[in-house]
Amino acid sequence: MRFTIGFEKNDKEKLFELWNDIIINQQWSEGKYAKLFEEKWTAYNNSPSVVFSSWAGAALAALEFYGVKGQTVLCPSNTFMATPLSVIKAGGSIEFVDCNRHDLCMSFADLKYKVEQFKPKLVWIVHIGGHIAFEIEKIANLCKEKSIVLLEDCAHAHGASWNGKKAGTWGDAGIYSFYATKTISTGEGGILVTNNSSLLDFCRQYRNYGKFDYQVEGLNYRMSEFTAALGCVQTDRLDEIVSWKNEYASKHLDAQFPNRVKFPSGMISGYYKYIVFDPIEKSTGKVYDQPCHRFIKKNYVLHNSDWVAKNHWCVPLYYKGDI
Ligand SMILES: Cc1ncc(COP(=O)(O)O)c(C=O)c1O
Repeated sequence: MRFTIGFEKNDKEKLFELWNDIIINQQWSEGKYAKLFEEKWTAYNNSPSVVFSSWAGAALAALEFYGVKGQTVLCPSNTFMATPLSVIKAGGSIEFVDCNRHDLCMSFADLKYKVEQFKPKLVWIVHIGGHIAFEIEKIANLCKEKSIVLLEDCAHAHGASWNGKKAGTWGDAGIYSFYATKTISTGEGGILVTNNSSLLDFCRQYRNYGKFDYQVEGLNYRMSEFTAALGCVQTDRLDEIVSWKNEYASKHLDAQFPNRVKFPSGMISGYYKYIVFDPIEKSTGKVYDQPCHRFIKKNYVLHNSDWVAKNHWCVPLYYKGDI
């Protein structure tokens, strides 16, 4: 199966209609489609949303809102460098937490240890591969108990849920990416979800140079109306894309790959990746082949992150991809 973008070809006409409307109405930014995309995502994810031009813009807004400058932040080493780099750019210092081998996500045991060692202001958790981190409940409870801010990096987690609860709703906020390879994409784009109304207000100012009283020192992280219209079409199609991927996995892949990430009861993966623990022919490669602590050196070891980098592979699974 070759890579295909998570986009339903039959949605082209609808998309062109919306783009035509944008051209006719002469409003290419800060118009009704950015608002509509937010409304649709709010309904889908069951939490208020603010759209950005990228995950990175939303991440910076949240990190600045929670005041990580000069503070320690923990994040998993098994993630994309975007996660620790966001902290460094926001003026925080980063320390890494190991992952579990079975879900590739943050280890609660190592988090507990690192919380005592580093006394962090904030923790980033990452839902790697499109499923919810298996230890999210315990991690969210620990963060609450210790008054640590918890952000969820949902860049892989479109459509992921556990007993109906969507990614991004365990912590203080969650941030999705709509980059070109994601389960659904708008080419570029990001969205932040949170129930914190002060953070929502801060984000709306942060993405728009702090308009209109300029008390928030943001820059331009606005999403164009064309991108937002695509986001609307994609959000309407997300359930179908996730169902298709789940059905394909259970019909065509699960029996072939018994040594794979297996989800706990009630969990639905958006299947950004289909992850197995044996080398396979025609793999699309690794989620990440180098954990972040290999780029940002630390004087502690993260055995599971190193193990995972060497011992997992991804089976191609793309929405209506050529077979
Ligand atoms: C785990 C993770 N976090 C953050 C990002 C950054 O998203 P963006 O490129 O939209 O800024 C990505 C991927 O692109 C990612 O995979």
